[in-house]
Amino acid sequence: MTDDNTIDGINYGPLAGLVGTWEGNRGMDIAPEPDAVEKNPYYETITFEAIGDVTNAEKQVLAVIRYQQIVTRKSNDQVFHDQTGYWMWDADTGVVMYSLSIPRAVTLIAGGDATPSDKGIIIKVAAALGDPDWGIVQSPFMRDSASSTKFSLEMTLNGDQLAYAQSTLLDIYGQSSFDHIDRNKLTRC
Ligand code: HEM
Repeated sequence: MTDDNTIDGINYGPLAGLVGTWEGNRGMDIAPEPDAVEKNPYYETITFEAIGDVTNAEKQVLAVIRYQQIVTRKSNDQVFHDQTGYWMWDADTGVVMYSLSIPRAVTLIAGGDATPSDKGIIIKVAAALGDPDWGIVQSPFMRDSASSTKFSLEMTLNGDQLAYAQSTLLDIYGQSSFDHIDRNKLTRC
């Protein structure tokens, strides 16, 4: 990466600093159980790869970073969350987009922005079920039994330090809007 956020001639703007492999072992997951709340300390590896730009309708140009997030439970060293998708940046509007897919048959595209602060670059994105702009798509089983209704992610990128906190609201086990929370702090390898 150069000082102007350019990699191989493409400007990735606020996303440029993500590129690389990151590890963090201070993760905490709050997940639903039928009669309880599950707390899962975790460690993870996230890789971000600059893959170039795309042009949509001969007008919109997005700089694209592909990521993969592999999350392992500390208690048994088993992978318990596998997620992939893209970070996208539209230089013309400043809009940041985030897609995710998880192998529970849930996917979404969240939108937001990135703002500089004294703590680093703060990237915020959100999506909601039924939102015409930034939406959530899930299988019929998940819609009926474990529906994801709202998602938000805030990430702070400061040099080789990356911290995130995310919230996914779930309608599950007869509960409405269970707050499924994940947070971690990572360091670039
Ligand atoms: C670091 C990220 C995440 C971790 C570690 C994680 C972990 C978990 C765990 C432990 C459960 C409880 C069920 C089980 O033991 O498998 C769960 C449930 C669930 N998670 Fe996540 N999750 C993460 C992110 C997400 C995201 C981003 C979404 C969707 C946007 C999501 C959607 C769901 C849904 C729909 C369920 C309910 C399924 C069920 O419990 O049967 N999760 N997650």
